[in-house]
Amino acid sequence: MYKSLCEEYNSYFNVGAALCSFFLMNENDINSYIENINSYLLQIKNNNKKIKGAPNIEKLRNDTIEVLNYAKHHFNVIVPENDAKMQYLYLPNGEIDFTWPDKYVEFAKMNNQKLRWHTLVWHNQVPEWIFHNDNNTYCSKIELEKRLRNYISTLGARYKNDIYSIDVVNECISDNFFCVRNGAEKSKWFDIIGKDYIQKAFFWTKEAFPNSNLVINDYSLESNINKRNGMYRLLKELLVAKTPIDTIGLQMHVSINNPLISEIEETIKMFGDLGLKIIISELDVSIYEDNHEEKIFEPEKVITSELLTKQAARYYELFECFKKYAKEGILTDVIFWGITDRFSWRNNFPIKNRKDAPLLFDRKGNPKPAFFKLIKE
Ligand code: GLA
Repeated sequence: MYKSLCEEYNSYFNVGAALCSFFLMNENDINSYIENINSYLLQIKNNNKKIKGAPNIEKLRNDTIEVLNYAKHHFNVIVPENDAKMQYLYLPNGEIDFTWPDKYVEFAKMNNQKLRWHTLVWHNQVPEWIFHNDNNTYCSKIELEKRLRNYISTLGARYKNDIYSIDVVNECISDNFFCVRNGAEKSKWFDIIGKDYIQKAFFWTKEAFPNSNLVINDYSLESNINKRNGMYRLLKELLVAKTPIDTIGLQMHVSINNPLISEIEETIKMFGDLGLKIIISELDVSIYEDNHEEKIFEPEKVITSELLTKQAARYYELFECFKKYAKEGILTDVIFWGITDRFSWRNNFPIKNRKDAPLLFDRKGNPKPAFFKLIKE
């Protein structure tokens, strides 16, 4: 195997990757996964819908062994891609299902890696019950705060020594108004608790995980100056109120041309000046230049070697920029949102089934030009 990415950047920052639970499944997990899929397919069939048939899990699994090997070899940080989101863990009876987080803890320990938690409070992938009373009306502010605090403290009691960095609040800035998003943009946290759900979440997380880095995480802060300013205003308020927040996560779902490195640098400097650490929390480099604001999306492209060379140059300039701010003591982690192109979420976002190639390893698991550009033998 090639030299590892985390070794290459050892003197600058941690290099991590999001890993989905599929790769950590044992035989029992696979069997129950197949059972679930089969009963789901049966349900659709009974409703007379067209079905494609169950995926061949065994084959898929054989094809994915190398993802696991890369996960162990190249990265010194692992983050569950989906399996630490509240929707999958917090049960309506108030208990927490630790099954998958436990597996990630074990995996990281076995491979001598650090573990990040993604994410505690978010308006997406959150269980609906948490906002409701039994009669389906919205619960009170006091009740919701109690439920959130219980969630955070129960997780802390179990994992406080296992998690070095936590996304406490994810994607809280509005894309339209650049202040804290409310229920019109899906945040029932805001509607029921009010804006200070953010501050409270940080205080409760500090109590529960006293030694972890506490992160606020968001997207498009580099490309959208209004959103960046909105986040800046919020952070200033939080810091004035002595909120225990120490890090901002820039997701960095970018593309080959945009945003410009100068915009990325401005963003890093602006938040760095607040005394916060910066992490790149969800890096990938799409081959498409979509305009999300205007909803103009490119049709599927052929992945040419010219495109891959351009992507390699883009990854190189990004890493040069990250190194610069790591040297200044501002930037501490670079986390990829996935490992191989085949399993990247960007194959389904912003358009379903449009093949993208945003990561360092291709659909067959081979290292791409971008990988070789980042590793200097
Ligand atoms: C956002 C979230 C992640 C993930 C990606 C898509 O960036 O923070 O949890 O859902 O979208 O995979």
